Amino acid sequence: MQTAEIRQRWLDYFASRGHTVVPSASLVSDDPTLLFTVAGMVPFVPYLTGLVPAPYPRATSVQKCIRTNDIEEVGKTPRHGTFFQMNGNFSFGDYFKEQAIAYAWEFLTSAEDEGGLGFDPKDLWVTIYEDDDDAFQYWKQTANLPDERIQRLGKGTNYWSTGQPGPAGPCSEIFFDRGPAYGADGGPATDDDRYVEIWNLVFMEYLRGQGTGKDDFEILGELPKKNIDTGMGLERVAFLKQGVENMYEIDQVRPVLDKAAELSGRRYGANHDDDVRMRVIADHVRSALMLIADGVSVSNEGRGYILRRLLRRTVRAMRLLGVETATFPELFPASRDAMKAAYPEVESDFDRISRIAYGEEETFLRTLASGTSILDLAVADTKTKGAGELPGDTAFLLHDTFGFPIDLTLEMAEEAGLTVNRAEFDRLMADQRARAKADAKTKKTALADLSVYSAFRAKGETVFTGYDLLETDTSVLGLIVNGESVQSAAAGDIAEVILAETSLYAESGGQEADAGSIVGNGFDLEVLDVQRPVKGLVSHRVQVRSGEVGVGAAARTVVDAEWRRGATQAHSGTHLVHAALRQILGPQAHQSGSYNKAGYLRLDFAWNQGLSAETRSEIEEVANNAIREDLEVVTRVLPLDEAKALGAMALFGEKYGDLVRVVDIGGPWSRELCGGTHVRHSSEIGIINLVSESSIGSTSRRIESLVGRDAFRDLATERAIVSELTASLKTPREQLPDRISELLANLKAAEKKIAEYESRQLAGRVPELVASATRVGEVTLVSESVGSLRSTDELRQLVTSVRERLGSDAAVVALAAEVSGKPAVIVATNPAARETGVRAGVLARGAAGVLGGGGGGKDDLAQGGGSDVSAIPAALESVTSNLAA
Ligand code: ALA
Repeated sequence: MQTAEIRQRWLDYFASRGHTVVPSASLVSDDPTLLFTVAGMVPFVPYLTGLVPAPYPRATSVQKCIRTNDIEEVGKTPRHGTFFQMNGNFSFGDYFKEQAIAYAWEFLTSAEDEGGLGFDPKDLWVTIYEDDDDAFQYWKQTANLPDERIQRLGKGTNYWSTGQPGPAGPCSEIFFDRGPAYGADGGPATDDDRYVEIWNLVFMEYLRGQGTGKDDFEILGELPKKNIDTGMGLERVAFLKQGVENMYEIDQVRPVLDKAAELSGRRYGANHDDDVRMRVIADHVRSALMLIADGVSVSNEGRGYILRRLLRRTVRAMRLLGVETATFPELFPASRDAMKAAYPEVESDFDRISRIAYGEEETFLRTLASGTSILDLAVADTKTKGAGELPGDTAFLLHDTFGFPIDLTLEMAEEAGLTVNRAEFDRLMADQRARAKADAKTKKTALADLSVYSAFRAKGETVFTGYDLLETDTSVLGLIVNGESVQSAAAGDIAEVILAETSLYAESGGQEADAGSIVGNGFDLEVLDVQRPVKGLVSHRVQVRSGEVGVGAAARTVVDAEWRRGATQAHSGTHLVHAALRQILGPQAHQSGSYNKAGYLRLDFAWNQGLSAETRSEIEEVANNAIREDLEVVTRVLPLDEAKALGAMALFGEKYGDLVRVVDIGGPWSRELCGGTHVRHSSEIGIINLVSESSIGSTSRRIESLVGRDAFRDLATERAIVSELTASLKTPREQLPDRISELLANLKAAEKKIAEYESRQLAGRVPELVASATRVGEVTLVSESVGSLRSTDELRQLVTSVRERLGSDAAVVALAAEVSGKPAVIVATNPAARETGVRAGVLARGAAGVLGGGGGGKDDLAQGGGSDVSAIPAALESVTSNLAA
């Protein structure tokens, strides 16, 4: 039974039992606590918690999922995939435990020609949560399973949540017994390779709180309704129904595995390590394909980093199979062909997908070579020192600059017989993360706990009027202070305000929230921030400037028009810079992030080298031309597939069937999916002034620009500086660079002359110093203060010249000077003096002690310093007395 067929049977079965078929959501979850969609229930979380009213009482889906926490297990067990599809049936307060168990049993065990999967009941086992007697009863009634095939397990396995605060509940899992050839008897409690979990039924009736592991979280209370969330692993059922050994050998995955075998010239099934590598490749290529199709692009953080890690692990696995050249152009088409029947977009969008994947492989193969030389050097160095451990900072450098996943470094070090200082590496990584965290905005956490919003969201969505209006009359639906819904807020209070309508833009799509105020009869609120904490609901964080505001009051939202104009210019400017980048550098320079606010824009894009001054100017020129052309800005709201057909970019988190907003500037010249506010004609942007271009990782660059009035002011400041320079240098503007170079050259020549002059001056003092020699015992001593010098180098030069002139009899020279306001002393001895036991180091240290500092050096030449210039005579005295002693 092909994977596609299992999927279809599933949807048909539940559709005919009153479930609304919901298309898979994007892998990019719009739940802020999750990077990816990790389970079929993720898109339904707001319905499960009751935050948003469910639009249907029961639903079914086949959801694309990504889980990478078990990435090390991939290829080693039969069932761990980083990408997989979860068949789910959901009830939002409709049916519960008994019905969910009945559906699952019927679908699994009814005959294939009746639309079921045709599993033999005697191959199936179930687990239930330890004290869930209801579940036990229902399984007995429905399936008539013998008691010993219903195993009771603890919270760690049979209490499910996404791992984050949110809906949770006890669960019951269904397992298929592959038979004694695969492991020990005793059911799923004993062996999870022989007994493969195929379906998890979650009885979702609780809300969990914070916690780390699978079982150390608190239950905060009951959900408003008892829900059902189930998940059947499509790949797991497919491998069992297809009679193959594991999920990497099913129809949707196997072709990539075969391709890897073919490219490496090694046979699948011949060697365990090679088999694991081939399975890793087959899994990771498919995951990467699906992630890129859903709009993820490579970067060094968040989702982009996970994608990068999958791609780089693939390159490494191919390398371990003996292939060092690029293989993605073979592997990705194989995966595309295996997946396109279920996901046509992987074919229609393959140009873009493959560009990103192939680009990453090329980049990594390049850095792999330079990184490998760095690693080789570090290995050689470590071995020369006789150590067995590579420093953690080398591993960090390889990670940070060359994009080596740490396990690649570990493995390569091991090949060289070394370990890696993992603790130091982890510490450096933690420091980096802490820095990143400190940079990240803390605003969102200032919002109240999400549950407080549900009552407001239940009343409907907040209507955004701000595309057309700056001011809107509306009413106050709710007030939240310190996370709790309250009836009023008074002067000085910080509160969140929920309104029926708003003209204030909530931060999203890289655009900052609007500045402005909310006013009404007897109150005036300053808007501090505007966010959308729950899909469809806008919350305004305000400080009450004066008066008192109460729930039910009439209010008017007022956007600061100047701010909005600047923000709008910046957001449209971002689109122009993006289009200009793609025009100049090519479509592979795709945007990976952006941020804009009044007067300023920032755009991050995929590129792995710095831009030349000419390229920067070209990009700036193209963007500014687009402003001069006065291009029309047209926004349309369309279903997602129509927008995609038009070639709109940045498909992130949207679901099929969703309406999306397409923003065109100059028709298709710049076409993006975007919810932001924009100018009506490009000329309103004024100017774009590209002020910086920098690296933010080995394959990402950042462009920053000023826009509109801020751009003008920055240029005006520069002009003022230039005119000051033209005036003070009495040189026309065009000749300034030459004039400054000329001045710098003159300055350098003059400095050189001064140095030569001073050196001659210094040499001139040698005879006088030699003449000042006295005798201390058997030694000739020159001990003088020479005033102030420019550097201790000069002092050293003087000391050695004097020593040379004193001849071969035992001689010591000790000269002191003031250098940059501090005392310095240098002592030199000749061989005859050293033979009598005189040590320059000892004398210098003694003198330095008197100067209030420290010193030292060799027997022939040593130096000391301190802080007290007035102690120079005493310091020199100490040399004489030391010598005499
Ligand atoms: N949400 C449940 C799971 O992922 C069904 O196992």
